[in-house]
Amino acid sequence: MKDCPSDVITDEASALPLVRCLVENGMPVAEVTLRTPAALSSIRRMCEVPGLQVGAGTVLTVDQATAAVDAGACFLVSPGLHEDVIRYAQSVNVPIIPGIATPSEMARAISLGLDLVKFFPAEALGGVRLLKAIGSVYPDVAVMPTGGISPSNISGYLDLPNVVACGGSWMIPASELAAGDFEEIGELVRAASELTK
Ligand code: 3PG
Repeated sequence: MKDCPSDVITDEASALPLVRCLVENGMPVAEVTLRTPAALSSIRRMCEVPGLQVGAGTVLTVDQATAAVDAGACFLVSPGLHEDVIRYAQSVNVPIIPGIATPSEMARAISLGLDLVKFFPAEALGGVRLLKAIGSVYPDVAVMPTGGISPSNISGYLDLPNVVACGGSWMIPASELAAGDFEEIGELVRAASELTK
């Protein structure tokens, strides 16, 4: 699977219908960003349903990482190299995908024992062109770009050999989620899932 929605849930009541919508439309992995008070309780509820791997995103502190793991998150994502969070995740054997933006940060990630990183914010940094250049010198590190990715530019990322997944929030628009429009979200998720095949 080379695709993963990254969503901001503001109301945990949407968590269960969202899980059903993702699973039914071919999306087995989701990242719930810790940017709202409802994020942790949503992760807890989403993890109760089989069929979806739920991770926590925007993890900035060890306290957040601990709470997310306690809630059931099976992977952690950070926008940058938070070394204390990385060490915590490694100590509890929970996969962590921290963000890098430069070759030097890639080198630091490797020295921390990582073989999978997030490239964030992908489009603002220079997109496919920059990631291709970084990948040419660090081909053994798998990368998940996120930030500004959409159906119009995702294929350029997916074509890179070091890209194993892309993240994006476009398939779960905040307005549709707030309105409970899971039909529309389902169509976007199914289309995103098709793009990865
Ligand atoms: C993330 O946390 O990965 C990003 O906020 C996702 O970026 P997008 O909203 O531009 O897809």
